[in-house]
Amino acid sequence: MARCRMASHVFVTRPLPAPGIDLLKDSGFEVRSNPEDRPLSREELLAGVRDADALICMLSDRIDSELLDSAPALKVIANYAVGHDNIDVGAVRKRGIEVTNTPGVLTEATADLAWALLLAAARNLGAGERMVRAGEWTGWGPMQLLGEPLQGRTLGIVGMGAIGQAVARRGKGFGLEIIYFNRNRVAPEIESSLGAQFVSFDELVRRSDFVSLHAPLNEQSRHLFNQQTFQSMKSTAVLVNTGRGALIDEVELVAALQQGRIAAAGLDVYEFEPKITEGLVSLDNVVLAPHLGSASTSARGDMVRLCCENVIAVLAGKPALTPVHA
Ligand code: GLV
Ligand code: GLV
Repeated sequence: MARCRMASHVFVTRPLPAPGIDLLKDSGFEVRSNPEDRPLSREELLAGVRDADALICMLSDRIDSELLDSAPALKVIANYAVGHDNIDVGAVRKRGIEVTNTPGVLTEATADLAWALLLAAARNLGAGERMVRAGEWTGWGPMQLLGEPLQGRTLGIVGMGAIGQAVARRGKGFGLEIIYFNRNRVAPEIESSLGAQFVSFDELVRRSDFVSLHAPLNEQSRHLFNQQTFQSMKSTAVLVNTGRGALIDEVELVAALQQGRIAAAGLDVYEFEPKITEGLVSLDNVVLAPHLGSASTSARGDMVRLCCENVIAVLAGKPALTPVHA
């Protein structure tokens, strides 16, 4: 195996599964990792990248011009996530530094979790679980915790990329009618294989009994779900977010749930993550997960491998496998 004359240095901001990281060591790179399973402080991050040739970072690491200024040797930034709203991609690429993410490998895991939240929120699983654990359950009741049925209802998918499509595929099995909104309409073959109908955002919001968010976070999609959106939704609607927290104006979501303007929500991501907006925790009609979308054993293993393969390719002067463009 070709070895660099002076070992290139890869900085990793969080402990990651070993089989992937070993790829870097086997390629002759020096790997320096945050030894602790916690996000680095800004100071630690800036110090860590100082003489790094490559950076493997997490969605909680902010990558901007200030960081790039303190990392003059950097050639590639591999984000351990598919979403890359934590990175100022334009600023990074302007300096000739490559940016990569982890598409594909976490698609099924994230779609599974969206369904876990949809079902849990629709059928009051969170409230029921809390009741049982609190010792407050007195037995089966004909009127107890009645939820929303799925069969024959409409699922609206916002963002019809790989994950949105994987969610749609599962929706067919539940007997749901599938509608979607995306910046660009997807290919007719994909639409027909999913049985999915392209609609305007307004129509999706008005027609959907369940809404699942899979759009990237950017200036156009920030607060896509706001007070006005909630007003247009059905009062029986269930909103699921496994994308990015700030797709939703969380203060307005709390108000909508409190006032019964929508029935329930299932959230995996939060606008001010890891801070949870006041009011959410005390609501019984919301299911709160701790950003678990890609947290399956195989997805996380494949993500680290893909990050490392991207780093190895770019440092060897080859094209990245999964580059991100601004
Ligand atoms: C997780 O949130 C990801 O974007 O991969
Ligand atoms: C060096 O760039 C290597 O690929 O080992």
